[in-house]
Amino acid sequence: MTEKKGTYYITTPIYYPSSNLHIGHTYCTVMADAMARFKRLAGYDVRFLTGTDEHGQKIQTLADAKGVTPQAYVDEVVDGIKKLWATMEISYDDFIRTTEDRHIKRVQNIFKKMYEKGDIYKGEYEGLYCTPCESFWTESQLVNGCCPDCGRPVQPAKEEAYFFKLSKYADRLLDLFENNPEFLQPDSRRNEMIAFVKQGLEDLCISRSTFDWGIPVPIDEKHVIYVWLDALSNYITALGFEDDRELYDKYWPANVHLVGKEIVRFHTIIWPAMLMSIEEPLPKQVLGHGWLLLGGEKVSKSKAAKGKDVVDPVVLIERYGIDALKYFLLREYTFGQDGVFTNEVMLKRMNYDLANDLGNLVSRTVSMIEKYCGGNVPASTTEDDIDRDLKAIATGAAAKVEAQMDKFAFNMALEEIWTVVRRANKYIDEKAPWILAKDEEKKAELDTVMHNLAEALRIVSILIYPFMHTTSREIRKQMGLWFADVVWEDAFTFDMMYGEQVKKGNAIFPRLDIEKELAELTALVEAKEGPKEENIPLELKPEIVYEDFDKIDLRVGTIMKAEKHPKADKLLVFQVKMGTETRQIVSGVAEHYKPEEMAGKKVIVVANLKPRALRGMESKGMILFADNGEKLEIVTTEAEDGNAVS
Ligand code: ME8
Ligand code: MG
Repeated sequence: MTEKKGTYYITTPIYYPSSNLHIGHTYCTVMADAMARFKRLAGYDVRFLTGTDEHGQKIQTLADAKGVTPQAYVDEVVDGIKKLWATMEISYDDFIRTTEDRHIKRVQNIFKKMYEKGDIYKGEYEGLYCTPCESFWTESQLVNGCCPDCGRPVQPAKEEAYFFKLSKYADRLLDLFENNPEFLQPDSRRNEMIAFVKQGLEDLCISRSTFDWGIPVPIDEKHVIYVWLDALSNYITALGFEDDRELYDKYWPANVHLVGKEIVRFHTIIWPAMLMSIEEPLPKQVLGHGWLLLGGEKVSKSKAAKGKDVVDPVVLIERYGIDALKYFLLREYTFGQDGVFTNEVMLKRMNYDLANDLGNLVSRTVSMIEKYCGGNVPASTTEDDIDRDLKAIATGAAAKVEAQMDKFAFNMALEEIWTVVRRANKYIDEKAPWILAKDEEKKAELDTVMHNLAEALRIVSILIYPFMHTTSREIRKQMGLWFADVVWEDAFTFDMMYGEQVKKGNAIFPRLDIEKELAELTALVEAKEGPKEENIPLELKPEIVYEDFDKIDLRVGTIMKAEKHPKADKLLVFQVKMGTETRQIVSGVAEHYKPEEMAGKKVIVVANLKPRALRGMESKGMILFADNGEKLEIVTTEAEDGNAVS
């Protein structure tokens, strides 16, 4: 019935198998899975790719520390990742590992093509490297001397290396951003990339020779290919580019690369430039999604165990089921924006929307059809305004879901579906079938109510399928629809059911005791972290002598004004008055403090620090912040300016 609408190729990032994945990776993969399932249902020939990014210094270091080979290290982690996706029934069509032969030989071919094009040359690399992010930075890109992406320290690196003439493609990239706004969404991300390219693109160092866990450079085996060049290629090597072109010709260019906002730069600058170099078409769209935050910080592999909230998807699925977790992730967060993750918001969503709204609708409907109609869905022979309203809302939802999915607005798509669920629950209250059942003459009306509820649930079971396919199946089983395929077009029509045998099953989403769940989840985290030891020495930088400290000139200043840096999410720009002088200081603390809470604070300033530019804004000196074990805290004097005796 559903005609084919062409191909749809969607990808997730290929995750680093440095350790088990957490809720953040799950979030991205769940979105991609929902979109893939939605497009399949809508009649597209879908290809959904995910995988793992297994090379690079970080993996080698972790393997060394564990005393195993890098291959053995990644094999174990990747095994866990594949199990997680299998448990979650993630519907990918291919899983690419960058250590597979098919990938390695194709990446070498891509490197060769770029070399033959004249886009790769040998030079000397001198710069700063952030190992956790596998990225090079220049001095001016650092924030407070650290990696601008993750805030961790960088190491100086100097070596002979191959370079990609990225700068050559700056104009074409700008043209792409400016004339093809669809290419990178949301708009805020696009503006950041335009600013980044306008600052001037430097050629990219694309080989390393200080470690060997990577794909050998085909023209010089002393070097391995830079892990990002290796990783980005996965989107086409997995399609067989270019020795086996069947899949490639069918699915490339990709419709969407779904990625987290921190790697948008790699996907919209380096990747398109690589494709321009090998003269292949660019992906149609890169979508940068926001981060899940845990107490103000990005959930990350290294911080996954901090705090009281469980972020291990395996634990959450075991306790609450796949669909509850997927529903929460898709419903709670707004695509493109960051969102705070806590176990409490998760449990509330599960209780209110799933146990109360949807769970109740299913169990009430099935019980009533059993009780009033002997378990068979009756025909409808009457109709009033309330019936018409339910019908209109139920049959109108699919088009609204489609419109929201076009915008990747998963939360709004689910909201549209819940409009039907809530309308149907209200319909039960309005129609009060238990009263109709008392009056023989109202039998026709009672049948209509049961029929219409069955229809509403049938439509809901179709609409939720891309997001919660196991729940869809369970509802269809209870509604006697187990034999029929889920067909999207059937969500636009009413009155398809008659005579189906319903059968009550278990509650699809049992009610949760939130307090009890929270306590148990907290206990799980604590058990994992181990007992708290007393008096553990802090992990500090190397000791310094008094003479080092004495070089620093500390002054008290007053923050007169604080605002966000126009070009960098993590930076705040302060105007600080010290005596008669007011100067501008830029600090990387936007994740810890809001500008509006800063004005008036008295602060301690390192006044003789050499001025420098941070993302294009001059910074003269440094405001002292200190690590309290969880976040940076501002160092202030006793009195705020407002309280000072004057
Ligand atoms: O960057 N919130 O891999 P990675 C939301 N191998 N999403 C999150 C998240 C969070 N707190 N943490 C991670 C890499 N993610 C490279 C990619 S692609 C050619 C190479 C998700 O293991 C998000 O999608 O660090 C992010 O972009 C991705 O995981 C990064 O995973
Ligand atoms: Mg990362």
